[in-house]
Amino acid sequence: MTITTYKSLWIEETEDGFSNSIVERNVADLPAGELIIQVHYSSLNFKDALSASGNKGVTRQFPHQPGIDAAGVVLSSSQSDFSEGDEVIVTGYDLGMNTAGGLGQVIAVPAAWAIKKPEGLSLRESMLLGTAGLTAGLCINKLLKMGLKSEHGDVLVTGATGGVGSIAVFLLAQYGFTVAASTGKSTQTDFLKSIGASDVIARDEFSDANKKPLLKERFAAAIDVAGGQTLSNVLKQIKAGGSVAICGLVESPRYDATVLPFILRGINLLGVDSVEIPVAKKQSVWQTFAQLNDYSALESINTEISLNDVPGKLDAILKGEGTGHYLVNMSDDAGA
Ligand SMILES: NC(=O)c1ccc[n+]([C@@H]2O[C@H](COP(=O)([O-])OP(=O)(O)OC[C@H]3O[C@@H](n4cnc5c(N)ncnc54)[C@H](OP(=O)(O)O)[C@@H]3O)[C@@H](O)[C@H]2O)c1
Repeated sequence: MTITTYKSLWIEETEDGFSNSIVERNVADLPAGELIIQVHYSSLNFKDALSASGNKGVTRQFPHQPGIDAAGVVLSSSQSDFSEGDEVIVTGYDLGMNTAGGLGQVIAVPAAWAIKKPEGLSLRESMLLGTAGLTAGLCINKLLKMGLKSEHGDVLVTGATGGVGSIAVFLLAQYGFTVAASTGKSTQTDFLKSIGASDVIARDEFSDANKKPLLKERFAAAIDVAGGQTLSNVLKQIKAGGSVAICGLVESPRYDATVLPFILRGINLLGVDSVEIPVAKKQSVWQTFAQLNDYSALESINTEISLNDVPGKLDAILKGEGTGHYLVNMSDDAGA
């Protein structure tokens, strides 16, 4: 069956700002791509909410089809590495930024952006993890490379109820670490414990603008999605030799720090990018995910929604009010 039209989240610039709706688009209107992919699942990310709200740092040209990740089936390929029917995962690069993204049922992308879905992982499971999971996995890999071991002590995750945070809590617990989860949502303690946190810490504990260059050594390592004052305070509380993997800026892209945690405790600040890294690095993280044997906590982290539900979720994500991760089922029947 040839697909000629498809549904998409569609962001338009208007006199009053930016509007979103679900529209029908023509496959023929997509710019030429080496792979034409029917998207079965996508996920919702903070960056999608930025794109949908007209953030020009993410998306310069409107109207636009957002969605920074997609799992689906190749409809046609001009490259010999891929064939019609291959199941693939695409995350990052320009997908959903200025290239029509996975919150449309069809995308056209360069073959170099796609990986073949590993055996042992379904398309749905891959987007239960999505870009948030890939990023959490990359953060953990960096910490492991620095020699982190479970006996070194607690690993802190900030923004723990968010997409990256909740999956980081889940993965760290699966790998045998004791996880301290920091959250601004006092109502979500039971949720965080159910996905693997041993300790839940109020976000306020990291928001104090104190001038002390060092605080009591408390965590063996941390994964930080916040930046800002949170990151400043986290750095002061990492045990000697420990590391912080930083991937986000939900609080602020700026942070205040002295060199003291680095030169007196030898701690490391590790930057994590899941977008522009070589596709082989992404592939190796997806391969590790294919070996996870318990997806039940991932199911409880995710809320499955349809494409029609997406517009109603964007605002809460922008305000940091969402809990967990949204799996977007892109089929026409989803949510019916
Ligand atoms: N480097 C990369 O390649 C990469 C990839 C993916 C995402 N990211 C970035 O990682 C960050 C998290 O993404 P996400 O998709 O997980 O977002 P998300 O689902 O919206 O979660 C963010 C969480 O951060 C916490 N938070 C919100 N406002 C905060 C504030 N002012 N101070 C401290 N914490 C706050 C909230 O959790 P609590 O209420 O539990 O505290 C919120 O749920 C974003 O900045 C995103 O752009 C980067």
